[in-house]
Amino acid sequence: MSHYLQHLEHVKGRFDHALQGSDFDAVLIAAGQPAVAFLDDNAYPYRVNPLFKYWLPITASPKSFIYYRSGEKPRLFLYQARDFWHSTPKLPPGEWQEGFDVTLIDNVETVVQALGKQVSNTAFLGEVHAPIDSWGLAALNPESMIHSIHFHRAIKTEWELQNMRKANVLAARGHNAARDAFYAGKSELEIHAAYLAAMKCRETETPYNSIIALNQNGAILHYDVYDADAPAEHRSFLIDAGAYYNGYCADITRSYAAKDGFYGDLVAAVDAAELAIIKKVKPGVSYYDLHVEMHRMIAQILADFGFFKVNAETIFERGYTRPFFPHGLGHYIGLQVHDVGGYLKSDDGTSYERDATHPFLRLRRELEAGQVFTIEPGIYVIDQLLEEFDGNEDFNWQRIAELRPYGGVRIEDSVVVTADGYENITRDAFASLS
Ligand code: GLY
Ligand code: MN
Ligand code: MN
Repeated sequence: MSHYLQHLEHVKGRFDHALQGSDFDAVLIAAGQPAVAFLDDNAYPYRVNPLFKYWLPITASPKSFIYYRSGEKPRLFLYQARDFWHSTPKLPPGEWQEGFDVTLIDNVETVVQALGKQVSNTAFLGEVHAPIDSWGLAALNPESMIHSIHFHRAIKTEWELQNMRKANVLAARGHNAARDAFYAGKSELEIHAAYLAAMKCRETETPYNSIIALNQNGAILHYDVYDADAPAEHRSFLIDAGAYYNGYCADITRSYAAKDGFYGDLVAAVDAAELAIIKKVKPGVSYYDLHVEMHRMIAQILADFGFFKVNAETIFERGYTRPFFPHGLGHYIGLQVHDVGGYLKSDDGTSYERDATHPFLRLRRELEAGQVFTIEPGIYVIDQLLEEFDGNEDFNWQRIAELRPYGGVRIEDSVVVTADGYENITRDAFASLS
């Protein structure tokens, strides 16, 4: 059996399990539809419901539905408008067609008519709006089903891993083009265009707004306003940009120095720390412990580069790493760039507590084979976070001022947990292009 068809069996099994513990006989999953801007007739970019693309690699056919009853072949109601204004979405070729009974529809009401009386035993998963809210479905987005599916989605099938490897190769190609554009002295907007051109896709076909930050803009964690004019001087470049393949995400960050010197050395130090923490990845390890360990490593880097007048141990103990590395070590990744389930302890929805010391950490679970997550340490000069330490003599403010014009450093890879260690699908992707 192909990897895709094995994946489909796995997904059916996950939904069988979720249905067994529920009051419902079947599930109806909507692909969703693009929202229209207020008082306008233009739609926002469309993003397919992740629970729809979990079943099959159809990501650009809004108003489609999947209906699944345990033990039966899933049904796909594929929407194809009778419309001379727009092109009909192209369907990906492939084996998914073997797995579904396909019905073409040009009116969503056909779905509820096809379900007939079964609709009152069917749970719905998707965005709720008219006319779906008047169909008489048994439940709209029941939490118990969603928790169950989300908990188990953390473990990827081989087909999912293949898609994520390919997404990383695609993104790595874009990253290489963006790096070359930086060294050619281009503006943020031109670098952004070079990234998309190398991936042969448009902006709405990336999983999140690319962060293309020159110089001090690298300190703005989600910087996505691209300056159309090149700066007078290129000092540093931080790029956090991803790709989709069959609906699965890549999320990669690299930092580059224009010239040799202390910023380039800092990039090398963060890169080495990132690789060192990845070496600890294996089943049974706690992601939370890796996050805390990374704060220790960041403390050492901050001490080595002279950002403090106290030693690494003191930097760590006094919490001084937190303004420099305010985000989490990383997150699950898969159908969504910040994939779900990072705080779920079990499929009944029991969750880990949030830790007030590390409020932005997105992943608390223990590592298990088949999970995929990012590892993305960083060091930035974020004035808003440094304000509370104003006047603190432990900080070497002069040295910190030297880093400010460079913004910051982040390095981000995606890692698969294997039976006895890890696979770094991002480094492998770059290596495959060289
Ligand atoms: N690109 C968003 C993130 O790294 O989480
Ligand atoms: Mn990330
Ligand atoms: Mn990222």
